[in-house]
Amino acid sequence: TLTPLLAALLAYLIGSLSFAVIFSRLMGLADPRSYGSGNPGATNVLRSGNKAAAVLTLVFDALKGYLPVLAVFLWGAPLGLGEGTAALVAVGAFLGHLWPVFFRFKGGKGVATAAGALFALNPILGLATLATWVILVYFTRLVSLGSVAAAGFAPFYQMLIWGFGPVVGAAGLMGLLLIWRHEANLKRLMAGTEPRLGAKKS
Ligand code: G3P
Repeated sequence: TLTPLLAALLAYLIGSLSFAVIFSRLMGLADPRSYGSGNPGATNVLRSGNKAAAVLTLVFDALKGYLPVLAVFLWGAPLGLGEGTAALVAVGAFLGHLWPVFFRFKGGKGVATAAGALFALNPILGLATLATWVILVYFTRLVSLGSVAAAGFAPFYQMLIWGFGPVVGAAGLMGLLLIWRHEANLKRLMAGTEPRLGAKKS
């Protein structure tokens, strides 16, 4: 039978599909780990100049967080799998993106995957977190700033409105790891050298 840990392991494998690398390869573009921030994520793929590749990366990296969690809610109940498992599955997919088993454990920062997972865990939380990100990125053009701030707010939104539970745990853990993965971005932000959206080089 499908236990919570097995479900999380499956999600980890799905999360390990690094779509920035996969789409770049399929579309004959340079490996995103070789230019810009070196990050295999939609923001960095955009720096290749190919918007379609960036959008595909964003959508598929988000779906690999969204769909496994949604599957738990849709089909988990008869197996005794509920919100706790959904939270574990969210973290599993997120960890796969950060440390992908198929790509020598060198993954991305988890922004799109965490966003997808949050939307499935709690759509209103997803919307509130996305709105935070959109407002910050719109006004500053700094994707990393929006990502770090939104990740920091998400567990508090969940806790203040719905109270403590597995979703707070998942959002908190993903938020901490996501912020930690942005260490180089945070240093550049403080030095004033972080490239803004639209700039092709970093
Ligand atoms: O998608 C991650 C984003 O917050 C920053 O990406 O490539 O600028 O490090 P990047």
